[in-house]
Amino acid sequence: MALGSSNIPWIFKYRPRTLSDYIDQEEAKNKLIEWIKRFPNTEYKAALLYGPPGTGKTTLVECLARDLGYEVVEMNASDFRRMQDIERIAIASADKAGLFGRRRLILLDEVDGINAKADLGGLEAVLRLIEITRVPVIMTANDPWSPNLRPLRNVSLAIEVKKLSEGNVVKLLKKICLSEKIECDDEALKEIARRSEGDLRSAINDLESVARGVKKISLDYVREILGYRDRERNPFETLGRIFSARSARAAKAAAGSSQLDNEMLMQWINENIPAQMQDPEDLWRAYEALSRADVYMGRIVKTGNWDLLSYAIDLMSAGVAMAKKSTERRWVSYRFPEKIRLMMRTKEARGVRDDIARLIASHDKISTSTAKNHVIPYLMIIFRNNPTEAAKIALGMKMSDTMIEYLAGPRAKEVISIVKELEKKIPSRESVEKKQVEAKTEAKKPEQQPKTRKEEKPGKGVGLDRFIK
Ligand SMILES: Nc1ncnc2c1ncn2[C@@H]1O[C@H](COP(=O)(O)OP(=O)(O)OP(=O)(O)O)[C@@H](O)[C@H]1O
Ligand SMILES: [Mg+2]
Repeated sequence: MALGSSNIPWIFKYRPRTLSDYIDQEEAKNKLIEWIKRFPNTEYKAALLYGPPGTGKTTLVECLARDLGYEVVEMNASDFRRMQDIERIAIASADKAGLFGRRRLILLDEVDGINAKADLGGLEAVLRLIEITRVPVIMTANDPWSPNLRPLRNVSLAIEVKKLSEGNVVKLLKKICLSEKIECDDEALKEIARRSEGDLRSAINDLESVARGVKKISLDYVREILGYRDRERNPFETLGRIFSARSARAAKAAAGSSQLDNEMLMQWINENIPAQMQDPEDLWRAYEALSRADVYMGRIVKTGNWDLLSYAIDLMSAGVAMAKKSTERRWVSYRFPEKIRLMMRTKEARGVRDDIARLIASHDKISTSTAKNHVIPYLMIIFRNNPTEAAKIALGMKMSDTMIEYLAGPRAKEVISIVKELEKKIPSRESVEKKQVEAKTEAKKPEQQPKTRKEEKPGKGVGLDRFIK
């Protein structure tokens, strides 16, 4: 599959190449430039750029290197383990007659990722590197106070990279909109910037999430899409944790702590597997695990055996995470599941979801949020897998056609036609029941007429539980 420029995540597409495109962070920029220009006549042989995620630490090093003509020798945490590698790199980097005769600098990105226990000897190796290096060493970290970093703090020039101001984030987002030919309200961009809390990566990702496939972005639209995401307690975080999990337990924990219901989580994982995995065998294993999870979900609906749920969750989390054999961590932006995006695009669809939630809530005496998170997802599975049962539920709860369409998706027509079939039989049954009731109560109280399905009001029909056997 060819990767056109439209497929490049915007955080890469709009990553500054030179310092002139790199916005804000004047203090950090100047401090770093001044230090590197004076090198090796400096107090420290290493600089430690620290600050919150997505504020441009790695980008700053890249821009600076390009502008000042440095070649970047990058190492990551897993390289830190072998002392002999460190020595080799230190010596090789010092050799100025390298490729194109350019000067070099060593970038140790995300040093707070060094795990003192797992990467045994990692810290000592870095300290050793700083001791023997003849070229500048630049480290980046999020949390400068992490105990792991204490020894590194003592031997480096600490430079703070701050959160970006809202105004600067908006400025950058505006530039992106201009180049993507997207019409965007200022208020909408401000809303994205406000939510990003100075994290440009998340601001750009949010803009891309919101803007993909549309030409105009309004404040309402941003609130709708991002608000939905926030309520689900940031699916990006859950996905990140699942895909980068190094153990089955960690992957399961990520799925378990997610606010996403299982059906939605499956959608998110499904949408993002191809971006996360390139190796065909990895992909095959991941999809295999996901499809087995799907089978279990189907069985739960058919048999009512909820014990199977834990297998389904294991497969979609640990099964998918462990499908990836290489431990290489790729950074990719997560995609919004197409299905959910389409659903979010119309207010109407959300309105329908809320209506269904209210209907279930009044019917089953539960809260609307429980209905939304715990009942609707299962109804969706039933409606998409078992039209006959779905029709009975729809009828019992007096659901409107739009509600059925929402729950059954591609199978809506089937469900609706079964409902119509059943409806033909029901009036006679209702009138029989009515007669029986009237006979018993001898018309003491006027009995409320059962509402017709068309009225779309919460019904008091057959209980949901009866159908989930
Ligand atoms: N000052 C900036 N000017 C323009 N774009 C920026 C700036 N800072 C960050 N970006 C954008 O945000 C993205 C993330 O930046 P970067 O990867 O450098 O953050 P980071 O601080 O290294 O984050 P982390 O701590 O997660 O590694 C970049 O790809 C770039 O598009
Ligand atoms: Mg970085």
